[in-house]
Amino acid sequence: MPVGTVLVTGGTGYIGSFTTLALLDAGYDVVIVDSLYNSSKVALDRIELLAGRRPDFYQIDITDEKALDEVFAKHPAIDSVIHFAALKASFAPHSFSAVGESSVIPLEYYRVNVGGSIALLQSMSRNNVTNIVFSSSATVYGDATRFPNMIPIPEHCPIGPTNTYGRTKSMIEDVISDYINAQRNNLEKEGKPFQQWNGALLRYFNPCGAHPSGIMGEDPQGIPFNLLPLLGQVATGQREKLLVYGEDYPSRDGTAIRDYIHVVDLARGHLVALNYLRANQPGVKAWNLGSGRGSTVFEIIKAFSAVVGRDLKYEVVARRAGDVLDLTANPTLANTELNWKTELTMEKACEDLWRWVSNNPQGYRQEPPAELLAAVKKA
Ligand SMILES: NC(=O)c1ccc[n+]([C@@H]2O[C@H](COP(=O)([O-])OP(=O)(O)OC[C@H]3O[C@@H](n4cnc5c(N)ncnc54)[C@H](O)[C@@H]3O)[C@@H](O)[C@H]2O)c1
Repeated sequence: MPVGTVLVTGGTGYIGSFTTLALLDAGYDVVIVDSLYNSSKVALDRIELLAGRRPDFYQIDITDEKALDEVFAKHPAIDSVIHFAALKASFAPHSFSAVGESSVIPLEYYRVNVGGSIALLQSMSRNNVTNIVFSSSATVYGDATRFPNMIPIPEHCPIGPTNTYGRTKSMIEDVISDYINAQRNNLEKEGKPFQQWNGALLRYFNPCGAHPSGIMGEDPQGIPFNLLPLLGQVATGQREKLLVYGEDYPSRDGTAIRDYIHVVDLARGHLVALNYLRANQPGVKAWNLGSGRGSTVFEIIKAFSAVVGRDLKYEVVARRAGDVLDLTANPTLANTELNWKTELTMEKACEDLWRWVSNNPQGYRQEPPAELLAAVKKA
């Protein structure tokens, strides 16, 4: 018997595929819905190779309530959803400057991210699926240095996103909170059980790294927005140099500070948050998922160059609109309440990322080297 059955939206994407693996390894059954807008079905093969089990998969759009209803009807054992499906921060195609896509096509971000989340909640409601774990982001905090004593950032830091993408995340947090609270209050007033309705808002810091086997990792379809995937492309020769956005921040070396979290740790964070919701029925709770350690852009370039074994070319350019000085987590709440903390370092993430990109420069559009596959099959 499975521990439970979970619907994972966006489950063929980067973080979704690692979370699916963690869920399968923990004994859950997993049903994935994804439009494949920014991912590939090959992720399912890799999950199966590593977990020994394949999740069910439906290619549907998150805004399609009817299609979601059909999936829930087909899988009545689903009692929880982990919700990743979204347009994530990326560069605007054809843009000559560092413009985030969400500021160029905001309506599309609101339609897919906010509209898709509402469609999902409507369908969950109709099908009595009562737990939701949501992919939020540290970007909801915006510039936490605008307040005294908010770095590292605790969950009670006021929300104040600085771009459209971040605003979609904070809006969805509000939609989920209002909805779960209303469900609980309405049912309680009617004298009915209400504690089954729960939500986790997981605010991730900077996810990075790949599976240590070297056969599963991030496979960006467009131009990546994040530092490490871009550095990976410089190391494999797909990109000439890294652009460093701003060397005039008031940090120890002038570049922006971020908290890098290994995707395997992050995936485990979803598993423990889901287990917590199911065991403790707390209503809605927000948790930071970060390491508590901040690294500058130059420190990351140095760490990744050390793994690659040569200096990687970069050029300092102007700051990127919407970027902030420091997003470092205070992860105490997740450490104590969820009994979760990061176990893998940023250096380990660099090592695993390099194993992934150097062996699979075409991502999922190529077969991984036979010796890596053989090692997985033997394990
Ligand atoms: N990677 C990060 O740095 C980061 C940081 C904080 C939060 N997040 C959030 O985590 C989630 C997953 O991010 P990721 O890095 O794995 O990105 P990803 O693009 O790899 O995963 C998102 C998945 O959602 C799917 N999707 C997009 N639009 C869809 C739609 N309309 N219907 C159905 N599926 C759709 C994509 O095909 C993709 O598989 C996203 O919500 C993202 O905003 C990511």
